[in-house]
Amino acid sequence: MPAFERIVILTGAGLSAESGLGTFRDKDGLWTKYDLAEVATPQGYARNPSLVLDFYNTRRRNALAARPNAAHEALARLERDYPGEVLTVTQNVDGLHEAAGSRSPIHMHGELAKALCLSCDGRHPWLDDISLDTCCPGCSAPGRMRPDVVWFGEMPYHMERIEEALGNCDLFVSIGTSGTVYPAAGFVVSARGAGAHTVELNLEPSDGASLFAERVQGPATQVVPAYVERLLQC
Ligand code: OAD
Repeated sequence: MPAFERIVILTGAGLSAESGLGTFRDKDGLWTKYDLAEVATPQGYARNPSLVLDFYNTRRRNALAARPNAAHEALARLERDYPGEVLTVTQNVDGLHEAAGSRSPIHMHGELAKALCLSCDGRHPWLDDISLDTCCPGCSAPGRMRPDVVWFGEMPYHMERIEEALGNCDLFVSIGTSGTVYPAAGFVVSARGAGAHTVELNLEPSDGASLFAERVQGPATQVVPAYVERLLQC
């Protein structure tokens, strides 16, 4: 019997930082260079769709060029080799969990590699830029495709499944996230409510660090493989 039977892992931008993808709120983070209200809200998209599409086109190209790092690989190994259940929930839209071999991470903030049609609600795998001339491959409507990512003011995906897993887990591990964006920032409270042990692995203490029973500080490529090793030896 493993030490923990059901593990929920939450990941954020810090996990992909050492793959060369910028975080949001660190020094030089994306939100220090772009106005979140202009590029990551439905209202910003309504005001200036080209600006928003360009922002995500650049992010998609960067994500496709990036390689998973040792932390993504360690988490894929945990999913594969741990004798209990492991559910990975990510706020990242970059696809590096899958690139490292994770089977089916839950993308609560969507994926850059998918596009959503505002006319027919169809979702399609998408590796190219999206422009105002792009037609939906499903309904052929022009100019109605947007990246399938969750913007501020929209409901994150798969919340029912995530809340159920948090309510049943006995270990919750939060990795590389600042703990400032809800609902993800509240997952530690749900997990604690279920009696789970809670661990934060982050470069520095996050805003919600005091909510965790255990905290490990350091770069993800070092602390995540070490922590995974510890779990596999439990
Ligand atoms: P943030 O940029 O808010 O936080 C990144 C966290 O990663 C910080 O706490 C850093 O200290 C930590 N970090 C940086 N480099 C690291 C490294 N090498 N190893 C480990 N940790 C490191 O990113 P998120 O918390 O993921 O949402 O942001 C949450 C959401 O806010 C994103 O999904 C996005 C954003 O706005 C939407 O766009 C809807």
